[in-house]
Amino acid sequence: MITLRDVLEPAVERLRAAGSESARLDAELLLGHALGMDRTGVLAHPEAPVGDGQRDRFAALLERRAAGEPVAYIRGVKEFYGLAFAVDARALIPRPETETLVELALGRVRASLAAAPRPVGARPFRVLDVGTGSGAVVVALARTLGRAGYGDAVRFTASDRSTDALALAVENAVAHGVADRIDFRVADLLAPAVEVDGPVDLVVANLPYVPSADLPSLPIAAHFEPREALDGGSDGLDLVRGLMGELPRVLAPSGSALLEIGSDQVDAALAAAAAALPGWNATIHADLGGRPRVLDLGRVAS
Ligand SMILES: C[S@@+](CC[C@H](N)C(=O)[O-])C[C@H]1O[C@@H](n2cnc3c(N)ncnc32)[C@H](O)[C@@H]1O
Repeated sequence: MITLRDVLEPAVERLRAAGSESARLDAELLLGHALGMDRTGVLAHPEAPVGDGQRDRFAALLERRAAGEPVAYIRGVKEFYGLAFAVDARALIPRPETETLVELALGRVRASLAAAPRPVGARPFRVLDVGTGSGAVVVALARTLGRAGYGDAVRFTASDRSTDALALAVENAVAHGVADRIDFRVADLLAPAVEVDGPVDLVVANLPYVPSADLPSLPIAAHFEPREALDGGSDGLDLVRGLMGELPRVLAPSGSALLEIGSDQVDAALAAAAAALPGWNATIHADLGGRPRVLDLGRVAS
């Protein structure tokens, strides 16, 4: 009888030889996927038998991983902000560092809604997620704020230039029960299509910010992701700059924008903000590891 342990060890070696830096974890996750169980099940039952069909399935998954495909695409799921998101080659795999953007946005919405009692009939607080990809950011926000009792007070728009990515975002919003609170729009940055009904209170965006010349040297897994989800132009900030230029048109007077950037782009992003938005506040927030990560923009209060 062939057991889980028998197939796992050679699989770890196979992935190590193929260059995976997380060979054991990858192999455990993929074995669980092939067997229809989670990783805990794999770890808890090393003596469980593995049938021929299951071995073949596992072997096929391993070969995809050995060729560099990310585990998240092979399994079709990635956890982000404690939620399971469907992922595939239509959109970027959400990264843990983007949870900082979600935390900051939640703080901004809560502070604004708690600052003053909202009169009956007041317009909802409007949040716009530009370049939503899989929908990870907007769905995490809508879920968390809905559970905190802010469901009716906040309306979301999620936009992307990619219709494929937007379709995935819709699927994730439906799966998490928040699709009725999000308007999905295909749009280039803040093209008129994203302007639904009046000014936006908070823009959040994790737009591509990898310099084009750096793309070939990204880890091989990133080569399976859409190029338009990563390529930020010559210095990586083309799209961030483009978005900044359009903010004055859509942001409410007291509104703000939280834009994820690379930790080595602080000086360039602040210089771009000073040029595009003279007289605005521009500050930087760090992630939990202390790395500068989010550019925070808003008009100076008069
Ligand atoms: C880095 S991915 C981020 C996806 C998602 N927000 C996340 O954090 O996982 C950037 C997204 O921006 C989209 N994008 C690229 N250029 C854009 C543009 N000019 N206008 C709108 N979206 C764009 C890409 O299609 C991609 O889905």
